[in-house]
Amino acid sequence: MRTKMVAGNWKMNKNLQEGVALATELKEAVKNPIGTPFIHLATVAELLKGSAIKVAAENCADHEKGAYTGEVSAEMVKSTGAEYVILGHSERRQYYAESYEMLAEKVRLALANGLKVIFCIGEVKEEREAGKQNEVVKAQLEGSVFGLSAEEWKNITLAYEPVWAIGTGLTATPAQAEEIHAYIRSLVAEKYGKEAAEDTTILYGGSCNEKNAAELFACPDIDGGLIGGAALVAEKFLAIIAAR
Ligand code: 13P
Repeated sequence: MRTKMVAGNWKMNKNLQEGVALATELKEAVKNPIGTPFIHLATVAELLKGSAIKVAAENCADHEKGAYTGEVSAEMVKSTGAEYVILGHSERRQYYAESYEMLAEKVRLALANGLKVIFCIGEVKEEREAGKQNEVVKAQLEGSVFGLSAEEWKNITLAYEPVWAIGTGLTATPAQAEEIHAYIRSLVAEKYGKEAAEDTTILYGGSCNEKNAAELFACPDIDGGLIGGAALVAEKFLAIIAAR
């Protein structure tokens, strides 16, 4: 049985005090990872200790340790009490030139350090318009995570986030999202078998909010959401969780 999940991604929002205030408001929400900036991790993880909320980093380094000024390793993330890391977000791919190979290494290091990975995939607008979304997500999976062992795969959650829907108010329709989620699950089945595919949690992200969440989450292959803007307001995030 796969886990239904609604995860938050705060991106580069909220200073430490604001982040602590938001986490405090969310404390009673069940089983939801929240992705926070690096500097919030230790404080928020301590605050949420004993609650069912898990803390996620939004990135980690592609090297184990050493002379990489300003980077934060998977081991450091784990040592804060965080349990997840979001990797492959389109903003990292687009603005920080994260390649398939770099992401494969980040995923490897995250798993080796005992973190679970929320791995993001999704096409840009031009690719959707050209009908290339399936080949894009296939290449992203093959390039960074399909080299994992079946055992490692158990710690991967996928998030399909069409780039054209992120922060734009343009949500994929439930039919569009379901179609590609089912395709993604079929790729996982080809690679890791039907049972593993059935157990894989695939989240939808991209302008998912308290109004459209229920309809999206009702689709058979959409197992929850990865929420950006609406995760910054406790009331909205809690309403999305309730729609799961
Ligand atoms: P929005 O919910 O703000 O569109 O962001 C989605 C996202 O990128 C989550 O990772």
